[in-house]
Amino acid sequence: MKFPNFNSLMRMLQAKHGAKLKNYVVQQGIRLIEIDGCPIDFRFHMHKNSKNRWSVVGIGAKKAGRGSVTTHIKNGGSLMTPEQALSRAFGSKSREVLERAKEASIAMSEAIENHHPHLLGEIGFDIGIDDNERIWMFEANSKPGRSIFSHPSLRVEGRSSVEHIFDHSMYLSGFHRGNDS
Ligand SMILES: Nc1ncnc2c1ncn2[C@@H]1O[C@H](COP(=O)(O)OP(=O)(O)O)[C@@H](O)[C@H]1O
Ligand SMILES: [Mg+2]
Repeated sequence: MKFPNFNSLMRMLQAKHGAKLKNYVVQQGIRLIEIDGCPIDFRFHMHKNSKNRWSVVGIGAKKAGRGSVTTHIKNGGSLMTPEQALSRAFGSKSREVLERAKEASIAMSEAIENHHPHLLGEIGFDIGIDDNERIWMFEANSKPGRSIFSHPSLRVEGRSSVEHIFDHSMYLSGFHRGNDS
């Protein structure tokens, strides 16, 4: 359903639920960039490194299956590299858009960590980009899956992800590796 403003949405909900309406979750629908009419979103796989800093270790682009709102692979979605997905939408500007999204992911990781009482070493962000190059974060997963690393072009990043777990564990335990990067 589409509504021109918040009040008309509330009128519909109150007419339908009346006084019973207490809790209801509504999200603004984001018009994601599309390829062949299917929305694209991105998984940014974040790790803390040996210097206790956040870094973007792997990025997978996910294309929704036809007629599906979400990009989950089990609903017919498919996996691409971010370069493949962004060049279709933004051409020569795609590198710049990707860099901005990486910076945003690091800022969001720091913000979440600073407001979270427990240790965090890894985050999987579900990120969308719209036609106006605006970046939206849908979900932050603290125990992210590793399915993006099965893409042939993301194997190296998959290995780096495992290395980051070791490196950051070494940092936490007070040991240091000689050649950290
Ligand atoms: N408000 C929204 N507007 C547009 N697309 C959305 C919105 N919320 C979620 N999505 C799409 O659906 C996907 C799955 O949503 P998400 O919040 O990550 O739930 P899940 O727990 O199922 O992974 C997102 O990655 C995004 O592509
Ligand atoms: Mg998700």
